[in-house]
Amino acid sequence: MKSSLFDPSYVRPLFPALSETDEKAQPLIFFDGPGGTQVPQSVIDAMSDYLRRRNANVHAPFTTSQRTDATVAAAHQAMADFLNAPSPDEIIFGPNMTTLTFAFSRALARTWQPGDEVIVTRLDHDANIAPWLALEEQGIVVRHLDFDPEDCTLRLDELGSLLNDRTRLVAVGGASNAVGTVNPIQAIVRMAHDVGAQVLVDAVHLAPHQGIDVQQLGCDFLACSVYKFYGPHVGVLWGRYDQLVRLPAYKVRPSPDLPPGKWMTGTQNHEGLAGTVAAIDYIATVGREYGSAYAAAYSGLQGRRLHLKQGLAVMQAYEQRLFAYLLDGLESIPGVRIFGITARDRLHERTPTAAIRLRDIRPEELCRRLALHGIATYAGHMYALAVIERLGLLEAGGVLRIGLSHYNTQAEVDTLLNLLSDL
Ligand SMILES: Cc1ncc(COP(=O)(O)O)c(C=O)c1O
Repeated sequence: MKSSLFDPSYVRPLFPALSETDEKAQPLIFFDGPGGTQVPQSVIDAMSDYLRRRNANVHAPFTTSQRTDATVAAAHQAMADFLNAPSPDEIIFGPNMTTLTFAFSRALARTWQPGDEVIVTRLDHDANIAPWLALEEQGIVVRHLDFDPEDCTLRLDELGSLLNDRTRLVAVGGASNAVGTVNPIQAIVRMAHDVGAQVLVDAVHLAPHQGIDVQQLGCDFLACSVYKFYGPHVGVLWGRYDQLVRLPAYKVRPSPDLPPGKWMTGTQNHEGLAGTVAAIDYIATVGREYGSAYAAAYSGLQGRRLHLKQGLAVMQAYEQRLFAYLLDGLESIPGVRIFGITARDRLHERTPTAAIRLRDIRPEELCRRLALHGIATYAGHMYALAVIERLGLLEAGGVLRIGLSHYNTQAEVDTLLNLLSDL
């Protein structure tokens, strides 16, 4: 067990994509983690092992079907461990967070009346806004919680005036995929529960950067996507068991009447579920190997649940150090504007995802020029339409997003900074 500071060289050899080069033999540099991370070989192996040895549909007595049942059960358990959910039956898998949220929003709305209200935030990805706006056609009122464009934090002081006894749900992001702000979920849950409203958290951008504990957060529902934390393209929705039992799912008649089967429409991405287990085990391994310093902070947890929290704490601490280094570099380049929290003593309130502009160069042009050097970033609104609109940047092409992951190195950040300086 290594107890010194985590170094990405410990894990980089496990990720085959990190030694890829482009057509000009330049090494690929992945700052596109918020769009989707690379995967370790163990995830690739688990997915191909599924297709080689376990491939079948579920619930039949023959060997491959039994192995598939075991794979699905293992994925529910792994994801319950990841979120510290009380039961694996509270985990719903689906194609992605967006599709799950559209389906779930409609199920929730079957229990609501015209005039009932939902609060969304301007800091959210559209996957946690559009499904709720779609309910306006059945008379649901959608209210918008603003954020402070100075540091891109939610205006919590305005939430109280939006909440009332008609509020059924607050739909809020765990963290912004555009500007990186981590939202104060526990405080929001307290305020929402005080008026009898439920809270759904979009944790897609938060999950790769911070250990999530649904019991501690106190929220009612939470969604995330495994491809953002070193796994395959699989979406996840967690809900309180009593709520998943109570709510009327859109389902086919022969599918189970109880969760999770009730909510998992159609045949699942079984190879993706095999990869999900491997991705979660990868994070737990990082925790077991390098996270001894964090064990005391999670004294209530054991086994994989503990190792997962340790793994994410290791990643978070490293990513914060690398992000501070990136900020130092960005701030030294004339004409760079950085959005969101930059105070060094507040970096724990954000993810290592930088949104920047460089003078008046359009972000898509920056993104294109970086790509010529093998560097993956994103430009535009990244579906965080409301954020970019609120910042007044929609016409100007949004922002350039530089997302750090625990496998990125200081040398990669230097390469990026040098290119941005030359521009
Ligand atoms: C914060 C956030 N929410 C939701 C989504 C949508 O997730 P999915 O692609 O699983 O539908 C994304 C995707 O980038 C995201 O970053």
